[in-house]
Amino acid sequence: MSARTLLIDHIGELVTNDPAPGVERLGILRDAAVVIEEGRVVWVGPAAQAPAADERLDAAGAAVLPGFVESHSHLVFAGERAEEFAARMAGHPYAAGGIKTTIAATRAASDEELANGVDRLVREYRRQGTTTIECKSGYGQTVLDEGRSVRVAGGHADEATLLAAHVPPPEYAGRADDYVAMVIEEMIPACAPHASWIDAFCEVGAFDGDQTRAVLEAGRRAGLGVRVHANQLTAGPGVRLGVELGAASVDHCCHLTDADLDVLASSDTVATLLPAADFCTRNAYPDARRLLDAGVTVALGADCNPGTSYTTSLPFVIALAVRDLHMTPAEAVWAATAGGARALRRTDVGVLTPGARADLVVLDAPSYLHLAYRPGVPLVRAVLKDGRLLGGSAPE
Ligand code: NIG
Ligand code: FE
Repeated sequence: MSARTLLIDHIGELVTNDPAPGVERLGILRDAAVVIEEGRVVWVGPAAQAPAADERLDAAGAAVLPGFVESHSHLVFAGERAEEFAARMAGHPYAAGGIKTTIAATRAASDEELANGVDRLVREYRRQGTTTIECKSGYGQTVLDEGRSVRVAGGHADEATLLAAHVPPPEYAGRADDYVAMVIEEMIPACAPHASWIDAFCEVGAFDGDQTRAVLEAGRRAGLGVRVHANQLTAGPGVRLGVELGAASVDHCCHLTDADLDVLASSDTVATLLPAADFCTRNAYPDARRLLDAGVTVALGADCNPGTSYTTSLPFVIALAVRDLHMTPAEAVWAATAGGARALRRTDVGVLTPGARADLVVLDAPSYLHLAYRPGVPLVRAVLKDGRLLGGSAPE
């Protein structure tokens, strides 16, 4: 017996992100339909030509787009830092040191508490249309605590990243080189089997260029793909280092020199911009236009974490990117879907073309433009992941 098929029709505006020639930007089709079978898209085209299917979902003229792809999150943590946020809003600057508060709370939490926290945030992301999530460790900074963190990340999210070098923990105060040696000799060998990616925070108050290089190279030798927190608070060596090491993505990119830009533009490394973190810290936004105009591939992420960006809303990030980073709505939606997929080196998500995963969002709006035009409004009417409707309402 063949598998059951699902037809979604009456799609007013379908964002496919299909780069095939002849289609509009974002690969938009109007009055479209999609057919899904065994968790994959098997047909996309004009609704009038749609084949029959076993089940039908009427999109009632709404916009449908690929589920958002979050390529940068820190969901494995305990506690929160609302007081630190309030102090920041009263004028205190953000510094890397705040991470230590969360490290203490995370080390004290049980595996179950950590797993419940990730589960809650993954569900929050999904309700807002995110169907693929990368999740980092980084609030343990011991072999034991990073080990349990990457296991929890891998158990609840789609991609797990070992953020082995987030900030030197208190027991290594003033001895960051010793911490890096421990990471290379003990942490990476123990944790790499449970992760896909290695990450490090290359920043004043965290790890310098040599330390970051040592950690990323050790992760790469252990078979992990490279990504890096780079140039968030200062114009350090992170971006150039990431590109040199073949990073899939360099993340934040708020302070770039012309040399950083040149190196990025002649690479296939994605610049992942996280404007919600800059919004919540009142730090400088990245210059998205400069990156886009230089031909750099740009992704957008929410960077959910308890310090700089306690949000799981990619629609909010899209609105910020349009309003404050001067990206067009099409550039922002592409960056939060196909761009996120590129940052994770995935080709099966971020697009709605035959063969892609059937991960999609039905909006309570006629066009993707409304994601920026109606900021703060819950516009996600329904979410399908692997062809299955997630909890919540379906199109009427
Ligand atoms: O991506 N910059 C480093 N890591 C996080 C913040 C972590 C924290 O403050 O707890 C970020 O912004
Ligand atoms: Fe981060």
